[in-house]
Amino acid sequence: MSRTIAIASGKGGTGKSMVAINLAASLAHAGENVVLLDMSFGMRSLELYLGMEYKALWDICDVINGVCDIDTAVLPVDSVKGMSLLPGTQKCEYPELTADSLSAIIEALSERFSYIILDCPPGAGYPVECAIECTDLAVIVLTADYVALRDAEVIEEMLLRSGVMDRRYVINMVSSELKEKDAGISISEIDRGLRCRPLGMIPMDYNIRASLAEGVPIVAKRDSYIADNFRNMAVRLIRK
Ligand SMILES: Nc1ncnc2c1ncn2[C@@H]1O[C@H](COP(=O)(O)OP(=O)(O)OP(=O)(O)O)[C@@H](O)[C@H]1O
Ligand SMILES: [Mg+2]
Repeated sequence: MSRTIAIASGKGGTGKSMVAINLAASLAHAGENVVLLDMSFGMRSLELYLGMEYKALWDICDVINGVCDIDTAVLPVDSVKGMSLLPGTQKCEYPELTADSLSAIIEALSERFSYIILDCPPGAGYPVECAIECTDLAVIVLTADYVALRDAEVIEEMLLRSGVMDRRYVINMVSSELKEKDAGISISEIDRGLRCRPLGMIPMDYNIRASLAEGVPIVAKRDSYIADNFRNMAVRLIRK
């Protein structure tokens, strides 16, 4: 049976796409067949972060509209065996997207993939609502600051209203300096604010940014200590 995981945050730029890519790659390294869906309608990014901009000819809207079939649009990710991408659309209007059309795509993908990862856009708009309606599990990605926590709480409310009981959070861009300078909040404050369990933490690391710019997930690189963080997260998800 396949599982759908929505990655959301509310606040923009917390690292949702970075977590979605590296979690997907870690699940694939663990032997799972994983597909990543770019839900950022109008402002896609995953095909760039995966170095596939020249291959991404068809997108999620083309599939919803029946312009091409799903197997044509879904592309294997060269750098990670077992990982595929359904590119997002650059079109800013997406009347075709509904929870029903997304759930039909998920159902079709579940025949080929054991994990379907929905990389949500920032905010709490319609694509996020649709993703939340269709998901089994949610990973909330936040940074250690008050705005990110407040937005994460909004997303968690939406998940609760939608009956998504399996929720985890990831704290990204963790840096001891931030806390020392009193610009951030503590992990226990985050834990008190959210009503879900932690999945893991990712440090602030320039190499993560560089790997996205290069188009290769950091977990696919040799000797990356960050791969251990993501491997542990993947194991926690698989064991659940
Ligand atoms: N742990 C990290 N250390 C350093 N840089 C990071 C880290 N995580 C993400 N970044 C960088 O932060 C920026 C935002 O990351 P990303 O695009 O994954 O965020 P996002 O939440 O998906 O953004 P959006 O809300 O626009 O979809 C990128 O430039 C990325 O390289
Ligand atoms: Mg993103």
